[in-house]
Amino acid sequence: MQQYYDKINETARIIQSYITEHTPEFAIILGSGLSKLEDEVEVISEIKYQNIPNFPKSTVSGHKGKLIYGKIQNRYVLMMAGRVHYYEGYSMQEVTFPIRVFAQLGIKRLILSNASGGVNPNFSIGDVMIIRDHINLFPEHPLRGKNLDLYGVRFPDMSKPYSHAMIAELEKIAQENNIKVQKGVYVGLQGPSFETPAEYGMVRILGGDAVGMSTVPEVIVARHQLMEVCALSVITDLGGPEISPDVSHEEVLNAANIAMPNVILLVKNLIKNYK
Ligand code: HPA
Repeated sequence: MQQYYDKINETARIIQSYITEHTPEFAIILGSGLSKLEDEVEVISEIKYQNIPNFPKSTVSGHKGKLIYGKIQNRYVLMMAGRVHYYEGYSMQEVTFPIRVFAQLGIKRLILSNASGGVNPNFSIGDVMIIRDHINLFPEHPLRGKNLDLYGVRFPDMSKPYSHAMIAELEKIAQENNIKVQKGVYVGLQGPSFETPAEYGMVRILGGDAVGMSTVPEVIVARHQLMEVCALSVITDLGGPEISPDVSHEEVLNAANIAMPNVILLVKNLIKNYK
């Protein structure tokens, strides 16, 4: 455990040397196909993951790996352009390591984005869903093992995983800009295969609106450290017990592209307005 603390501190020290101005107010994690958000950052410094000690390196194409420090709407942000997933073979500690480092750097808010498969029959491809809650179906819990007492409690509260205030702000922005947004429950599965029709059906029965392979571990760890969290999911395909979508990674990226302008507008204005 001391080793994990040491690694976090070592990595935070290195990243701190790139944070030449104010501490970022927001950490942002970009999901599949959402890398255009990168262009919204007025870059101050950048570090490739390969140059950050202890940082996991993504193995999926469409997921680039660099950390960007800069400004959006004149507020300081630290953006992870590219994330790693449990299905790539990383342990939960590795997947959530960047969150620990962000907290160590004094960042208090986290904005995540991802692509997911919709199971709510009212959803369409290209919709943006504000995640209001999640169901963790990963086979391993990111907080399993000795508790990191310096960061949070053994049994963290999960009654409000996603910030109600941030959700309200996002909904206000959507309304003001005439953007259709959905709100729903994200179910996290390990992947990497997409779901069978029966599995999409299961997700729906369980109370899910969308299903994907990321985000849940990061959110749990961020909440362990009491960071304020919000997450947006782009619906890239629709599945259900009677629908068997022929999903490919390319289709996911295409649908993410279509939703991109809305995601950008929502994230930019959230950063601009959020007190
Ligand atoms: N499942 C189904 N569709 C998806 C996913 C997923 O995990 N990710 C993006 N689209």
